[in-house]
Amino acid sequence: MRPGLLFTVLLATTVAAPGVHARAMPDPSQTPAPGNEQPQIPLSRAGYSPAVNYQLQCAGCHLPEGQGAPRNDVPRMTGFVGNFLRVEGGREFLVRVPGVAQAALDNDQLAELLNWILAREGMAGASTPQDAAPYTGAEVARIRATRLHNLPDARARLIQRMRDQGIAIHDGMPHDNHNNGDSQ
Ligand code: HEC
Repeated sequence: MRPGLLFTVLLATTVAAPGVHARAMPDPSQTPAPGNEQPQIPLSRAGYSPAVNYQLQCAGCHLPEGQGAPRNDVPRMTGFVGNFLRVEGGREFLVRVPGVAQAALDNDQLAELLNWILAREGMAGASTPQDAAPYTGAEVARIRATRLHNLPDARARLIQRMRDQGIAIHDGMPHDNHNNGDSQ
């Protein structure tokens, strides 16, 4: 094929592509399946408890009890996550991780969810300091608005600060993953 013709064919393919996509969009006159006519309530307006919000928005990755999944780089929160409140910058980190900052919850609901996760009688257990102040919606709003730039580095720094305090790193992550934690 002559180069000029090849170019024309390629150009035509590229230009034609959006049309193909447009036709793949849902049919605007489509109606909901029978029995599924009610529009969905946005999660932030559904009035669910933190436990339900956790199951709906977090457990898919963190697992139902916060056990985590090292194979998917998800650290264990059970009996560990409260340690972030023991090091400088950790309190902010817990709000800024993408799963939290980008959850479909408003600031008050996020504060409530974090407090539920961090409760000493709950998932975080004794890893949460006894005198830890609960998050408020206003605090979450302030922290959530600033982006976390380098998550792995930020996390590794916090884990190192925990080590410096003699805190054992039982986050379930493998040894080679910056933090030399346990490998279960
Ligand atoms: C798509 C998977 C996914 C979802 C959904 C998710 N997370 Fe995470 N979360 C992670 C991963 C992976 C990390 C480890 C840091 C990172 O790489 O983001 C993490 C880290 C965290 C941390 C910091 C703990 C640590 O040891 O680093 C907290 C707290 C947290 N998530 C809470 C939540 C909450 C609360 C929700 C639900 C509102 C949620 N996450 C939803 C994957 C997820």
